[in-house]
Amino acid sequence: MKVAALSLPVILGFGFFPFGDNNGGELSGQGDRGKINRGLTRLSGQNHYFWLPNKRVPMKKHNFSAGPCILAPEVLQQASQAILNFDDLDLSLIEISHRSKNFVAVMEEAQALTRELLHVPEDYEVLFLQGGASLQFVMVPFNLMQLEGGKAAYLNTGSWASKALKEGVRLGEAVEVASSKDQNFNYIPKGFGIPEDADYFHFTSNNTIFGTSVREVPLTEVPVVCDMSSDIFSRQFPLTDYDLIYAGAQKIWGRLALLW
Ligand SMILES: Cc1ncc(COP(=O)(O)O)c(C=O)c1O
Repeated sequence: MKVAALSLPVILGFGFFPFGDNNGGELSGQGDRGKINRGLTRLSGQNHYFWLPNKRVPMKKHNFSAGPCILAPEVLQQASQAILNFDDLDLSLIEISHRSKNFVAVMEEAQALTRELLHVPEDYEVLFLQGGASLQFVMVPFNLMQLEGGKAAYLNTGSWASKALKEGVRLGEAVEVASSKDQNFNYIPKGFGIPEDADYFHFTSNNTIFGTSVREVPLTEVPVVCDMSSDIFSRQFPLTDYDLIYAGAQKIWGRLALLW
């Protein structure tokens, strides 16, 4: 079965993650006007707002760091309304049953939007999972590596790719087919081979910390698995080149997985 696994807490369609202390609270301060702090900077010369019920709230800063993404004001407005009173139920979205028709409709819309945006073919499943992308570093070998004599191929192009490899090694023979660690991950290795008897080949499409990207999926007959945490939805790509993709929610489209 082909799978596009989107690791996020509960809801995608609404970008529904209003809680939590974003980057240790640095986004909320008034006192650091104009300061660029860990990639956070104030929007200058433009009026950006988001809306709470009956209230226009100026958006003071934009986050250019590799951490959680900035969500569109409309998303925050819809999410905050859903937290207060969802679907005119006089209940919050997080106070109703996850089996209720109102909540199921949210999930179905999230599924449909994901399928539409990523052009997900019929024979691929879309899963919403808890635990973030790091949990998939473990779940991928657990699910795809043979129990006896399991083998997987990993392309090591950055710290997240290294972490994925580290988890693969715990469960079987995880082979590092190529690495750019020798030059602090400032390039993407080319011309490497992928063992034909590997249960899968794993790579990271965008190396968040080092700023390099794998532009072409290496040609191989073995199932291709990709961590797309920091570039999913940033470009169109043929999903049929992959057998499984996964992505933590917080980079591009939602809130930190573990806050829920
Ligand atoms: C490429 C990549 N993979 C994995 C992760 C880890 O994601 P999570 O925090 O959801 O475990 C990140 C960043 O957080 C990332 O940028």
